[in-house]
Amino acid sequence: MPSIASLALASLLAVPGISTLIPKLPLEKYIKSERAIALQGVLDNIGPNGVKVPGAGRGIVIASPSKVDPDYFYTWTRDAALTLKTLIDEFLLGNKALQPYIEDYVHSQAVLQTVSNPSGTLLPSGSGLGEPKFTANGTRFNGNWGRPQRDGPSLRAVALIQYSNYLISRGKRERVKTEIWPIIANDLSYTGQYWNSTGFDLWEEVSGSSFFTTQNQYRSLIEGAALAKTLDVPCTGCGQAPQVLCFLQSYWNGKSFTANFITGSNNRGGVDANTILGPIALFDAGAPCDSPTLQPCHSRSLANFKVFVDTFRNSALYPINAGISQGKGVALGRYPEDTYYNGNPWYLITLGAAEFLYDAVAGWSKNGYLTIDGASLPFFKELYPLARVGKFSWYHPSYYVLQHLVRTYADTFVAVAQKYTPANGMLAEQFLKSAPFTPISAANLTWSFASFVSMAQRRDGRFPTSWVPRSGPQKPVVPSVCAASSVQGTYAPATAAGAPNVTAPCVSTVRFVLNATTYYGENVYITGDGPTLGNWDLAIAYPLLSSNYTAERPMWWADVPLDMTAGSGTTTVKYKYARQQNCGQDWIVEAAERTVQVPACRTDGSSQVLVETNDAFIGQGGTPGSC
Ligand code: NOJ
Ligand code: NOJ
Repeated sequence: MPSIASLALASLLAVPGISTLIPKLPLEKYIKSERAIALQGVLDNIGPNGVKVPGAGRGIVIASPSKVDPDYFYTWTRDAALTLKTLIDEFLLGNKALQPYIEDYVHSQAVLQTVSNPSGTLLPSGSGLGEPKFTANGTRFNGNWGRPQRDGPSLRAVALIQYSNYLISRGKRERVKTEIWPIIANDLSYTGQYWNSTGFDLWEEVSGSSFFTTQNQYRSLIEGAALAKTLDVPCTGCGQAPQVLCFLQSYWNGKSFTANFITGSNNRGGVDANTILGPIALFDAGAPCDSPTLQPCHSRSLANFKVFVDTFRNSALYPINAGISQGKGVALGRYPEDTYYNGNPWYLITLGAAEFLYDAVAGWSKNGYLTIDGASLPFFKELYPLARVGKFSWYHPSYYVLQHLVRTYADTFVAVAQKYTPANGMLAEQFLKSAPFTPISAANLTWSFASFVSMAQRRDGRFPTSWVPRSGPQKPVVPSVCAASSVQGTYAPATAAGAPNVTAPCVSTVRFVLNATTYYGENVYITGDGPTLGNWDLAIAYPLLSSNYTAERPMWWADVPLDMTAGSGTTTVKYKYARQQNCGQDWIVEAAERTVQVPACRTDGSSQVLVETNDAFIGQGGTPGSC
């Protein structure tokens, strides 16, 4: 261990302003070159001009150009919003060339909000805003998916608010009010209405409530309220903020954050990167470290960080981390039970850990003191065995020593990412946890690239604009009793930003029930009349669920909200069932058309089942392929 004196000396180098005297390390070179590659990597994945994503619509952020294994040639509301937040920060830091991308994004989101989808519609209830993904040209995605996901609207609101604040500072208040606020208002309405309803987590796998989602929902409502005040408009939903903050505290289990409250059985222990990515998404360098917003420098966030990282030090779980000692960065994945591509480290999480630590240091630095309590002591002791509980102000050597050590620790996570970055700088989604440790899953993942850029901004001492109110009625104060509340949202298409002037669709919900014996990997769809059933186009047929399937009763079913806007009164709808095979063999479609008499549709958002079918598949069964 280095002597205290040398540590104290080294720590002086970390004092802002003096740090630039540190000799350039190879890591610096990597960061410099990779940062440029990463920024370009992001832009290459945005339509209509992104060179890697031909066919993507204007302002559509594609998750990855990868079209097979996995097919990520879609836009996710979450990935897009997090990416734009970073681009907007980069723009605010002086990269003026990014403004057209931001403008295109504003437009694309106004339109996407109005696209009816399997989660629902914008009108009358906002339910469609919870849809996680759309096709590259902005049409609905009908496949089975973990939906709804309730982080997307909040993340989008945060990105758009950041840009709106910039525009207002440039005298464009009226433009923000008429064009951008209507988009934000829909997302805040959604957040206020549904924050307490279950939904899928950011990994799209478990339904319940998720730390990452709750934390971002809170931020959006607070920032939304401030913007509404500036614009002198009401914010439906923003009043829910204190209750969301109350709920956020409940994820703490005494040692770490339980990442998800999951409905139904599961094998999760609760350790999950969502609790690292949440704090970096709402980082505000000037917020007090004990703010209940749970900033990276909060003692609970630090305690949780250590629990999370230590989980991946287990070399039986992650051979890639074998032989790396405590206090040094390791490769990090989503959660220890992950099986997606066998569960590997992710670039955006390993880089996110570095960003988290840079943020924590910035928090101490801006606040002028650092507090160690019982919860965070193990985090500090790992880096500095002499650490002890107490409050350390700017005149205390420990204040500098610890900041220096945490910053150095952060660098070791970047070095891990560097070690597994291929020579061309490409950042995929994951890299193998076992030899040969090469990239795997989606190549050129937009979110991986964006995470590199934001990490590099923080390491450079570039921070996003502040959002946590320090005083006044919006100052974060946790209510003494939590309430599971909700407020009805108000929704309208953001027409001034280019959204079509949609109206509430007229919907008749039909429960389709089918008997069809299938093999594992085979799926069943309905193809038929009207937009919901895909107008006989198999590519956008409506998927059935096998959730009630048993050997005795091989039941496939779905409650399908048929959009009957074009019809009137009782209508006959024609349809067929179609089997989709496991390896891309031809579909097996029923020969004869079926009909169902559909009662008059309703515009009140009701999803009450009006009629139920009782069908049995007619035609041959499927045959598994070997793929
Ligand atoms: C795709 C999701 O995006 C990913 O997060 C998930 O792990 C896999 N589906 C498997 O469910
Ligand atoms: C899978 C991840 O789990 C999810 O968070 C992400 O939105 C999609 N991939 C697209 O990148």
